[in-house]
Amino acid sequence: MKTSILTSALCWLIFQSAHSQTAIPIPDTLSGNSITLTMHQDSVQFFPGQFTQTLAFNQYAYLGPTLILNNSQNVNITVNNQIGDTTNVHWHGLHVSPSNDGGPHIMIMDGMSWNPQFTVLDKASTYWYHPHFHGKTAEHAIKGAAGIIIVRDNNEALLNLPRTYGVDDFPIVVQSAQLDSNNQFMPFGMQDSTVFVNGVRANYGYSAYLNVPAQVVRLRLLNAAGERTFNFGFTGNMPFKIIGSDGGLLNAPVNATRIRVSPGERYEILLDLSSMNGQNINLMSYGSELPMGVQGGPTMPMPPGNPPMDSPLNGVDYNILQLNVGSPTSNPVTSIPSTLVTVTPIPAAQSNITRPIEMMAINMMAMDGPFFFNQQLFDMERIDYYIPIDNTEIWELTNNTMVAHPFHIHDVQFYVLDRDGNLPPVHERGRKDVVLVMPQETVRFITKFETFTDTVVPYPFHCHILMHEDDGMMGQFLVVPSGFTGIDDNFVLTQSITVFPNPTSSFLQFELPENELVSYRITDMSGKVVQKQDNFSGNTIHVSQLSQGIYHVWFRSGSKYYSSKFQKQ
Ligand code: C2O
Ligand code: CU
Ligand code: CU
Repeated sequence: MKTSILTSALCWLIFQSAHSQTAIPIPDTLSGNSITLTMHQDSVQFFPGQFTQTLAFNQYAYLGPTLILNNSQNVNITVNNQIGDTTNVHWHGLHVSPSNDGGPHIMIMDGMSWNPQFTVLDKASTYWYHPHFHGKTAEHAIKGAAGIIIVRDNNEALLNLPRTYGVDDFPIVVQSAQLDSNNQFMPFGMQDSTVFVNGVRANYGYSAYLNVPAQVVRLRLLNAAGERTFNFGFTGNMPFKIIGSDGGLLNAPVNATRIRVSPGERYEILLDLSSMNGQNINLMSYGSELPMGVQGGPTMPMPPGNPPMDSPLNGVDYNILQLNVGSPTSNPVTSIPSTLVTVTPIPAAQSNITRPIEMMAINMMAMDGPFFFNQQLFDMERIDYYIPIDNTEIWELTNNTMVAHPFHIHDVQFYVLDRDGNLPPVHERGRKDVVLVMPQETVRFITKFETFTDTVVPYPFHCHILMHEDDGMMGQFLVVPSGFTGIDDNFVLTQSITVFPNPTSSFLQFELPENELVSYRITDMSGKVVQKQDNFSGNTIHVSQLSQGIYHVWFRSGSKYYSSKFQKQ
């Protein structure tokens, strides 16, 4: 008797856990000119009875509200940090000034607030927000501190597209993570096997569903995973239309049955469910179709001594979200427009500079990094590029590693010119801020650095595999005013050096590796040269005549450049 009760109880438990279906939440929205985001610690019972520590915004225990912004509005955001650690928040994909962008140089101490303000200059699309504190981005973002930003504009409003949030227009945030034996997030774990969609577990006996109406629906797909690329498609190879990439709508809907979305990327798709009332269909990731080298494709054999990357999700197809189709709404969108907006890529001929960026690893065979750009790990004090305002540039990304890297740049949207010399697929010809560069591939994009200059706070560019980024696969650039003379025009790299004492009231001492004559420039916060000298020897500069403030000092020694920030008391 006892045994049979126990057995049936066990069976019931197993039955329950094997069929645990949860509707995904559609986060509430925040809009208007004044928005408050409070990042805090929380916990979620992703596994019944076990609390997984999380980070989240506002009323949520995981992820955060959706921000809805209109093109050309002003917004004033208060970010409160209550996570017990220093952090910050970045508006991924939005074109905002460096000091409002939330890159690694912005730090919000625990218990403090940050108050960025900006005008929304972006085109209608799906963007997102997440922490960007250097070295801890993976930890903070993977624990759940992320949310969607929807930008609306007049051109998008003219189109007959589904745009009723939560009714026919849905944010779909897909993540995967590795959890330890206590079901706590392992931000650097490369055996990520637990899939989440809008914070709901989607695999291993769990499934996530969404009720959708029998009409044209819009899904805003965001890959917010630390490393995994998803190859989205639907059961039965149901066709869909891709209508938008990271930074805007495409010229016209693109027919597809798959869309590969790497970490940080967004795509908007339309699905015509008009004839499917009462049926269901599953959003899947077809990992078996990804090539080896893309995290999500077949597992690569790891050299001895390297941590395993053998997630059971690698190279296989798995379910993400079941769409249960029900009655249509009263005013359904039933057809898909044949054209969308006018996308005007920048012609390659408008660029007068190509910046080569080589993705590399110390050991070219290493699949777990650390990876870096152009021989150097990220250095918060080193500016990699000085870009004159309004420059149009081609960036040429060459991946000399065994793994694919989703390259992301702040400040701008870019246009992919080519992949190994060939035009990119049609859906990659719109505005983008992340591009996946395959092993041994060269990708060129073109962009224009407009609107914002800052001679002190740089914008970063980095791999959006969060552990690669935290490990130093990142660089940074200043967009400087025209006529900025703090530096010579034709150098590419400044190495940071230490000057002392710092702060100083009367003199600065420095030591350069070369023993050559030195030229120096001191610039103020606006980039204006306030003191200079050419071809002198020695290692002391007198600065007592400078007024109090923060300055940059730039040295040229032979063909090498060095810089440092210092404070004059
Ligand atoms: Cu989504 Cu610099 O990041
Ligand atoms: Cu970004
Ligand atoms: Cu990478």
